[in-house]
Amino acid sequence: MKALILYSTRDGQTRKIASALAEAIRTQQPCDLMNIQDAPQPVWADYDRVLIGASIRYGHFQPVVETFVKQHLQALQQCTSGFFSVNLTARKPEKRSPETNAYTRKFLAASPWQPDCCAVFAGALYYPRYRWFDRVMIQLIMRMTGGETDSTKEVEYTDWAQVRAFAQEFAQLPGKS
Ligand SMILES: Cc1cc2nc3c(=O)[nH]c(=O)nc-3n(C[C@H](O)[C@H](O)[C@H](O)COP(=O)(O)O)c2cc1C
Repeated sequence: MKALILYSTRDGQTRKIASALAEAIRTQQPCDLMNIQDAPQPVWADYDRVLIGASIRYGHFQPVVETFVKQHLQALQQCTSGFFSVNLTARKPEKRSPETNAYTRKFLAASPWQPDCCAVFAGALYYPRYRWFDRVMIQLIMRMTGGETDSTKEVEYTDWAQVRAFAQEFAQLPGKS
């Protein structure tokens, strides 16, 4: 049996985290990686473990994540499963847990799918890559929350040791046969 990681991303950071998780999981079992935005139809019989990861933009996960969860609810419930969210609020360690990160808490409270493990990762800030409107908006949010406001900067806040530790936690969860 294999593990499956599904992710949704806008600027690539969630894909980068998903790839690092896949690499760590592959030391224990085969692991496939799929972009949820490609509307994948996994052959669920091949998988016993699944992880879903998604990033936040303007307070929301991409709607495709919720749609996928609803469409594949039964399969997700039959697998050992995990969820991870990626956002900039989580650059502050006290906002980096499923209980203290509002986006993640709300998602889990509303979701018919209850994953067996969950993590919140800090994302990245890539000012030079954003279009003008997004750059100004993020700069405003950063000013209000005491973050980086220099729009020439690219800052990756992701804690890669936390990512690897989550891969281990997920890989060691008991199976649901
Ligand atoms: C236009 C835009 C809006 C964002 N909105 C939020 C937000 O509301 N809350 C937050 O914590 N992070 C926000 N972020 C930060 C992203 O979640 C972060 O950059 C993350 O790394 C993006 O992951 P991705 O590249 O996989 O999409 C925003 C980023 C951008 C570019």
